[in-house]
Amino acid sequence: MSRTITSLQAALQSLPDNAQEPVVDHLFASHLLNSLGFQTEEIHPQYSTGNGSVDKAARKTIGDDAFLHTKSNPYLLLELKGRDINLSQDAAQYQVTVEQIKRYLLAPNCTTVQWGIITNSCHIQLFRKHGKVIFPATKCISIDANNIDNVAAEIRQKIENTNKALTIAVYNNKGGVGKTTTTVNLAAILTFLGKKVLAVDFDPNQQDLTSSLGIPLSQGSVFEALTERNIDLLTTLYPYKFPLKKLHRELRFDVIPADQKLTDTPEHQLLSHLQSHTLYRKLEPAQQEYDYILIDSPPNWRIFSQLAVYAADVVLIPTKHNNLFSLENAAMAMKKFIPEVQSKKLDGSPIPLPIFFNGEKITDPQLKVAQQEINNILKDAKQEGFNLLPYFYPKYTKAKKDLHIHEVPSYANIAGSAFSRIPAVYRDISAHEYYKNLAKEYFLQ
Ligand SMILES: Nc1ncnc2c1ncn2[C@@H]1O[C@H](COP(=O)(O)OP(=O)(O)OP(=O)(O)O)[C@@H](O)[C@H]1O
Ligand SMILES: [Mg+2]
Repeated sequence: MSRTITSLQAALQSLPDNAQEPVVDHLFASHLLNSLGFQTEEIHPQYSTGNGSVDKAARKTIGDDAFLHTKSNPYLLLELKGRDINLSQDAAQYQVTVEQIKRYLLAPNCTTVQWGIITNSCHIQLFRKHGKVIFPATKCISIDANNIDNVAAEIRQKIENTNKALTIAVYNNKGGVGKTTTTVNLAAILTFLGKKVLAVDFDPNQQDLTSSLGIPLSQGSVFEALTERNIDLLTTLYPYKFPLKKLHRELRFDVIPADQKLTDTPEHQLLSHLQSHTLYRKLEPAQQEYDYILIDSPPNWRIFSQLAVYAADVVLIPTKHNNLFSLENAAMAMKKFIPEVQSKKLDGSPIPLPIFFNGEKITDPQLKVAQQEINNILKDAKQEGFNLLPYFYPKYTKAKKDLHIHEVPSYANIAGSAFSRIPAVYRDISAHEYYKNLAKEYFLQ
């Protein structure tokens, strides 16, 4: 049986082994973009991002607005390299190229961009941008004539069915660092800022999120929705509503409450009902409904945290500057737990977000001690082959040695609000500001 060669396969086969960037551009780039669904007038070469120029930008024609002519509202960026640049995942040039595409994705003329691709025609990787957050949507895939059509189809499928939501697991193995408080108040502030939010209480043993909002516990229906194929998890949600009387507005975010049956079922039985991907799969319909899905996890690395982290695009890790365990556990999540999940999940996600300090007053001498401890953690990690610097000091560069870590200060009205059943950000202007800053720091572009 003869097999016809697709133009994309032919393009790849025509490339010499040592093809440099102009050759990859000339022989491969437009075939790749065509196979991703973009026609010639939908592709702009050397697009000026406002922070350097990216090799290609693309967007489908809307009415008579062809991207090549109007240059408005780009949707996807493609950064090309030659085969002389090694884009395999642990190469230094790969890291540099990832930083480069991130810089373009966040540049002023790219606020509408949702997707970024890097390729040198030997490797390819797709990245998603949601607000300020950039995370992998595929692994860094090795490509050749045999798999290129499948890889292109997979990428096309993703970019044509963009998930609306960013899914965030709030996790630290250490207890009492503010996971639940962060989840509740982030959900509340993002709602206030006009986003559609779902919060999931996935800590059934403590049920803190559910009770801090005064929401009734689920009596088995979340358990059933998770374990039975035909039940939609969104049937179990409970709306949390808060009236803004002066503005004649009502705020609402949705909550999947903690479930008593999940609490009562012994872990060995849960393990036969729930798989790593269970929560991820069950949240798929919600991915198209919400802007943000926030999952509160328990303080251990057991079934509920594992499913929560698997379901997430990114993991937000609260810590305390004066609690060494909370910092060491953050590093442990980055070196061990999150990579474990990445290796099961196969799309490069989830990734950790940089840590923040939550809920303690910090004096300058204390900050110095914390930095010393963090430096030791970073040094140990480096010896084990991990570069955790970006997750502890995201603003640190060689040129600017910025050791600032974001803080949510200690504030009595944050602690007090669980009793009132109202998120602190709706009751208190300072709490409102603190969490707005957190949302801006991490998520909002
Ligand atoms: N910024 C803050 N200012 C003051 N109190 C805070 C702050 N953040 C959290 N707290 C308080 O600290 C305590 C622990 O917070 P929280 O329950 O959110 O932690 P957690 O990590 O979810 O705990 P667990 O590991 O038990 O689930 C709570 O009493 C909470 O009200
Ligand atoms: Mg909690």
